[in-house]
Amino acid sequence: MIVRKLGWNRVISVSVLTFIWLGAASMAFEGDEAKPPSATEGQELSEKFCKACHLINGQGGGTAQVGPPSFASIANRPGQTAQHIKNVLIQPHAPMPDMHFSNEEILNIIAYLETLRTDPTIPPLLPPKGEGKPKFPKPT
Ligand code: HEC
Repeated sequence: MIVRKLGWNRVISVSVLTFIWLGAASMAFEGDEAKPPSATEGQELSEKFCKACHLINGQGGGTAQVGPPSFASIANRPGQTAQHIKNVLIQPHAPMPDMHFSNEEILNIIAYLETLRTDPTIPPLLPPKGEGKPKFPKPT
């Protein structure tokens, strides 16, 4: 019997720890839900991880370019979606490295890309507040 082997004290402390852990995990999840994506944090991440290959900060918006697309052209690409950008960041094609971003970091990067959009007639990458967050599949 597992209880006799471990003793009640042990069983109780393990249950208490599990309870605390579950509480903390659900709090972290709620926090994540409540915090809106931050374009500023997205820009910081982009300067750290993307600048080596992509032109960021709205430079290089033209159509004719060599090498990786600029952030301006990624943001303004017709039919561009948050889901596509998310997919690229979860499963990048070579030579883009897999940077193992969290959901929150990816949403921040998307919020930053949103600020580089120049055509106000195309729909936003992220739905405006109150219309729900885009639903992303869990990375496998
Ligand atoms: C080592 C170079 C490299 C780094 C670093 C890099 N990328 Fe890329 N990225 C590329 C290349 C090259 C492509 C084009 C790949 C292709 O067409 O398959 C690309 C394509 C993309 C695309 C797809 C564009 C589209 O509309 O299909 C997105 C989005 C993107 N990168 C975002 C990022 C972000 C965000 C970062 C930083 C977190 C980043 N990349 C870092 C090289 C890089």
